[in-house]
Amino acid sequence: MISCPNPAQDVIKALDLEPHVEGGYFRRTYQADRREMLETTGGPRYLMTSIYYLLTEDSPVGQFHFNQSDILHYFHLGDAIEYSLIHADGSLQTPVMGSEVLSGQQLQLHVPGGIWKASRLLSGSNGFGLISEAVSPGFDFADMEIGDRRKLSTRFPQHRVLIEMLTREDD
Ligand code: GUN
Repeated sequence: MISCPNPAQDVIKALDLEPHVEGGYFRRTYQADRREMLETTGGPRYLMTSIYYLLTEDSPVGQFHFNQSDILHYFHLGDAIEYSLIHADGSLQTPVMGSEVLSGQQLQLHVPGGIWKASRLLSGSNGFGLISEAVSPGFDFADMEIGDRRKLSTRFPQHRVLIEMLTREDD
Protein backbone atom coordinates (compact mmCIF):
# COMPACT_ATOMS: atom_id res chain seq x y z
CA MET A 1 0.00 0.00 0.00
CA ILE A 2 1.30 3.48 -0.87
CA SER A 3 1.51 5.74 2.20
CA CYS A 4 -0.78 8.72 1.96
CA PRO A 5 0.76 12.22 2.37
CA ASN A 6 -2.59 13.86 3.18
CA PRO A 7 -5.12 11.40 4.61
CA ALA A 8 -7.59 14.25 5.32
CA GLN A 9 -7.89 14.91 1.57
CA ASP A 10 -8.57 11.21 0.98
CA VAL A 11 -11.35 11.21 3.59
CA ILE A 12 -12.88 14.36 2.02
CA LYS A 13 -12.84 12.61 -1.34
CA ALA A 14 -14.06 9.22 -0.12
CA LEU A 15 -17.01 10.76 1.76
CA ASP A 16 -17.65 13.47 -0.84
CA LEU A 17 -17.47 16.29 1.69
CA GLU A 18 -17.65 20.01 1.01
CA PRO A 19 -16.55 23.06 3.04
CA HIS A 20 -18.92 24.08 5.84
CA VAL A 21 -19.66 27.73 6.63
CA GLU A 22 -18.55 27.10 10.26
CA GLY A 23 -15.20 25.71 9.09
CA GLY A 24 -14.42 22.05 8.47
CA TYR A 25 -16.15 19.87 5.87
CA PHE A 26 -19.52 18.12 5.77
CA ARG A 27 -22.12 16.25 3.80
CA ARG A 28 -25.76 15.70 4.71
CA THR A 29 -26.38 11.96 4.80
CA TYR A 30 -30.00 11.86 5.90
CA GLN A 31 -33.17 13.90 6.19
CA ALA A 32 -36.45 12.41 7.40
CA ASP A 33 -38.26 13.09 4.14
CA ARG A 34 -40.63 10.13 4.31
CA ARG A 35 -42.34 11.56 7.40
CA GLU A 36 -44.45 14.63 7.98
CA MET A 37 -42.53 17.79 8.68
CA LEU A 38 -42.45 19.04 12.25
CA GLU A 39 -44.05 22.43 12.91
CA THR A 40 -41.66 24.61 14.93
CA THR A 41 -41.83 28.30 15.87
CA GLY A 42 -39.33 28.88 13.05
CA GLY A 43 -41.43 26.99 10.46
CA PRO A 44 -41.62 23.37 9.22
CA ARG A 45 -38.53 21.22 9.81
CA TYR A 46 -37.56 17.60 9.11
CA LEU A 47 -37.99 15.39 12.16
CA MET A 48 -34.25 14.69 11.95
CA THR A 49 -31.25 15.35 9.74
CA SER A 50 -27.74 13.93 9.86
CA ILE A 51 -24.32 14.92 8.55
CA TYR A 52 -20.73 13.78 8.47
CA TYR A 53 -18.51 16.53 9.88
CA LEU A 54 -14.73 16.62 9.49
CA LEU A 55 -12.06 18.91 10.95
CA THR A 56 -8.60 18.88 9.38
CA GLU A 57 -5.23 20.54 9.96
CA ASP A 58 -6.11 22.93 7.10
CA SER A 59 -9.53 23.72 8.60
CA PRO A 60 -9.22 22.80 12.29
CA VAL A 61 -11.99 24.94 13.83
CA GLY A 62 -15.77 24.80 13.75
CA GLN A 63 -16.34 28.37 14.88
CA PHE A 64 -18.81 29.41 17.57
CA HIS A 65 -22.41 29.13 16.44
CA PHE A 66 -25.83 28.77 18.02
CA ASN A 67 -28.42 26.12 17.15
CA GLN A 68 -32.06 25.90 18.15
CA SER A 69 -32.13 22.10 17.87
CA ASP A 70 -30.59 19.38 20.00
CA ILE A 71 -27.56 17.77 18.36
CA LEU A 72 -26.11 14.33 19.01
CA HIS A 73 -22.46 13.95 17.96
CA TYR A 74 -20.84 10.56 17.26
CA PHE A 75 -17.06 10.21 16.98
CA HIS A 76 -15.80 7.97 14.19
CA LEU A 77 -12.13 8.32 13.25
CA GLY A 78 -8.92 10.22 13.66
CA ASP A 79 -7.68 12.72 16.24
CA ALA A 80 -9.66 14.01 19.20
CA ILE A 81 -11.88 17.09 18.96
CA GLU A 82 -12.42 19.54 21.81
CA TYR A 83 -15.81 21.21 22.12
CA SER A 84 -16.41 24.56 23.81
CA LEU A 85 -19.97 24.95 25.01
CA ILE A 86 -21.10 28.28 26.50
CA HIS A 87 -24.47 28.16 28.22
CA ALA A 88 -26.88 31.11 28.54
CA ASP A 89 -25.69 31.68 32.16
CA GLY A 90 -22.07 31.98 30.94
CA SER A 91 -20.91 28.59 32.24
CA LEU A 92 -18.40 26.78 30.02
CA GLN A 93 -17.95 23.06 29.32
CA THR A 94 -15.08 21.65 27.26
CA PRO A 95 -15.77 17.95 26.58
CA VAL A 96 -13.40 16.09 24.27
CA MET A 97 -14.62 13.60 21.67
CA GLY A 98 -12.24 10.82 20.71
CA SER A 99 -11.59 7.11 20.91
CA GLU A 100 -9.64 7.17 24.20
CA VAL A 101 -12.65 6.34 26.32
CA LEU A 102 -10.47 5.13 29.21
CA SER A 103 -9.02 8.67 29.46
CA GLY A 104 -12.46 10.27 29.51
CA GLN A 105 -12.86 11.07 25.82
CA GLN A 106 -16.42 10.72 24.58
CA LEU A 107 -17.77 8.70 21.67
CA GLN A 108 -21.12 10.48 21.95
CA LEU A 109 -21.86 14.07 22.90
CA HIS A 110 -25.30 15.60 23.35
CA VAL A 111 -25.41 19.36 22.84
CA PRO A 112 -28.84 20.80 23.68
CA GLY A 113 -30.31 23.53 21.54
CA GLY A 114 -29.94 27.09 22.82
CA ILE A 115 -26.23 27.18 23.63
CA TRP A 116 -23.09 28.43 21.85
CA LYS A 117 -20.86 25.68 20.47
CA ALA A 118 -17.41 25.60 18.86
CA SER A 119 -15.05 22.72 18.10
CA ARG A 120 -11.34 22.41 17.40
CA LEU A 121 -9.12 19.57 16.25
CA LEU A 122 -6.52 18.55 18.82
CA SER A 123 -3.09 17.72 17.46
CA GLY A 124 -2.52 14.04 16.74
CA SER A 125 -1.01 11.66 14.25
CA ASN A 126 -3.91 11.65 11.76
CA GLY A 127 -4.38 15.31 10.86
CA PHE A 128 -8.15 14.98 10.87
CA GLY A 129 -11.08 14.09 13.13
CA LEU A 130 -14.35 12.72 11.78
CA ILE A 131 -17.72 12.72 13.54
CA SER A 132 -21.40 12.50 12.61
CA GLU A 133 -24.19 14.72 13.89
CA ALA A 134 -27.89 13.88 14.22
CA VAL A 135 -30.01 17.02 14.54
CA SER A 136 -33.64 17.09 15.75
CA PRO A 137 -35.71 18.99 14.74
CA GLY A 138 -33.74 18.83 11.49
CA PHE A 139 -31.05 21.38 10.68
CA ASP A 140 -32.10 24.58 8.94
CA PHE A 141 -29.86 27.61 8.40
CA ALA A 142 -32.68 29.81 9.74
CA ASP A 143 -32.17 28.16 13.17
CA MET A 144 -28.42 28.73 13.22
CA GLU A 145 -26.43 31.88 14.03
CA ILE A 146 -22.69 32.22 13.50
CA GLY A 147 -21.06 33.91 16.49
CA ASP A 148 -20.03 37.53 16.05
CA ARG A 149 -16.68 37.98 17.85
CA ARG A 150 -17.44 41.40 19.30
CA LYS A 151 -20.99 40.59 20.43
CA LEU A 152 -20.02 37.26 22.00
CA SER A 153 -17.02 38.79 23.82
CA THR A 154 -19.23 41.57 25.19
CA ARG A 155 -21.78 39.05 26.44
CA PHE A 156 -19.22 36.60 27.85
CA PRO A 157 -16.10 38.70 28.72
CA GLN A 158 -14.80 35.87 30.95
CA HIS A 159 -14.37 33.75 27.77
CA ARG A 160 -12.85 36.46 25.52
CA VAL A 161 -9.61 34.57 24.78
CA LEU A 162 -11.50 31.41 23.81
CA ILE A 163 -14.01 33.39 21.74
CA GLU A 164 -11.16 35.12 19.87
CA MET A 165 -9.58 31.75 19.11
CA LEU A 166 -12.85 30.19 17.91
CA THR A 167 -14.51 32.96 15.88
CA ARG A 168 -13.55 34.66 12.63
CA GLU A 169 -11.97 38.11 12.77
CA ASP A 170 -14.39 41.05 12.73
CA ASP A 171 -14.85 42.62 9.28
N1 GUN B 1 -25.00 21.18 10.85
C1 GUN B 1 -25.67 20.15 11.37
N2 GUN B 1 -26.49 19.61 10.46
C2 GUN B 1 -26.32 20.31 9.31
C3 GUN B 1 -26.88 20.20 8.01
O1 GUN B 1 -27.71 19.35 7.70
N3 GUN B 1 -26.44 21.10 7.10
C4 GUN B 1 -25.54 22.05 7.41
N4 GUN B 1 -25.16 22.90 6.46
N5 GUN B 1 -24.99 22.16 8.61
C5 GUN B 1 -25.38 21.30 9.56
